[in-house]
Amino acid sequence: MLYNTGGDTMKNFYTQAVHAGEQPDPSSGAADLPIYQSSTFTHRDTEESAAVVQALQAGERKGYLYTRWGNPTVQALEEKLAALEGGQAALAFSSGMAAIATVLLSLVKSGDKIVAARQLYSGTSHLLTERLPALGVETTFVASDRIENFAQAIRPTTKLIYIETPSNPLLEITDIQAIARLAQEHQLVSIIDNTFATPFNQRPLELGIDLVVYSTTKYLCGHGDAMGGAVIGRQEFIDRVLTGFHRDLGGVLSPFNAWLTARGMRTLPLRLERHNANALTLAQFLQQHSGVRQVYYPGLPSHPGHELARRQMPGGFGGMLSFEVQGGLEAGKRALNRVQLCTRAVSLGDVKTLITHPASTTHYIVPPEARRAAGISDGLIRLSVGIEDVQDLMDDLAQALR
Ligand SMILES: Cc1ncc(COP(=O)(O)O)c(C=O)c1O
Repeated sequence: MLYNTGGDTMKNFYTQAVHAGEQPDPSSGAADLPIYQSSTFTHRDTEESAAVVQALQAGERKGYLYTRWGNPTVQALEEKLAALEGGQAALAFSSGMAAIATVLLSLVKSGDKIVAARQLYSGTSHLLTERLPALGVETTFVASDRIENFAQAIRPTTKLIYIETPSNPLLEITDIQAIARLAQEHQLVSIIDNTFATPFNQRPLELGIDLVVYSTTKYLCGHGDAMGGAVIGRQEFIDRVLTGFHRDLGGVLSPFNAWLTARGMRTLPLRLERHNANALTLAQFLQQHSGVRQVYYPGLPSHPGHELARRQMPGGFGGMLSFEVQGGLEAGKRALNRVQLCTRAVSLGDVKTLITHPASTTHYIVPPEARRAAGISDGLIRLSVGIEDVQDLMDDLAQALR
């Protein structure tokens, strides 16, 4: 948990991606971030141990005690996350779900209500529909294309609004600034899952959102080799999560995965430029392909959220797109089984292009009626467009759709 230096973070995003959170190691002079692969830390004497504990209890980062309470490699990553997002502080977690669950559990108690967008990552939906009701917390899900839907669902016991934009897997776009205003009017906490967009494409804190959550497993790490999660926002919120729940629930990130994620984040802007460009080219290619019925990509003028996405995604429209092939489920499966360069796998945000069938994989745990109500057809295919040569990707999709 460290602090952003402030200023226009977007202007020097490329520099921050490389340098934020990383100083030469004071003990050895190592110029690159060391992996402090240690679960515990020693002190000169008991007085120093006591001072470290007291400072950590008071929310100050003065020294280290035990990696669940803080670790230098993880802290370097948290500083980079806060700097790139333009937030005051960040906390790293062992997975995106650890981050989301910890944040939600820290902000609601029995009897409270949540208003959430209907289209969310399936793990988040499952948490809201199956786990939190057992603790007395109910969620109302609304179609996120109209702000009035959120406004109408707010009750006196509502505590927070939760959105994901672009959403998984249909890339629906929600008006971030309008959600932030609505939450402020009703004194609710606003939370956004910014995993699909990343801080390069979309900057929710600058639009008034209170907390941004991530699966860093995806674009932030970027290489498909480390699970992780994060929450970023104002100090007061991060302190609430930190002191109340992060240590108690224990979903902390390992130093090695923090190191992999920080290493990946150094090239975040370069990778995102390429993900954005490749995805737009593929979306245009698929849209005019006779074997494709519909393409969902916010960068296409035909997408219902295109104008809004243009306003609130200044960096680009992202590397995720979904499409339905002509012929429905069977034709979709056939195309999926024929790809050669694209990798058939769940997850996203990897440098490699990943292709998946949400109804049988990522969204399988969502009951079929709920899936269809959310607009996720059985024939939908989701593509996480990588940074390969775009012509090679087009050739692969063309042969798979033939
Ligand atoms: C948008 C989004 N949020 C959160 C998660 C959960 O992250 P993790 O798998 O790192 O727990 C995912 C995973 O796919 C996701 O796509």
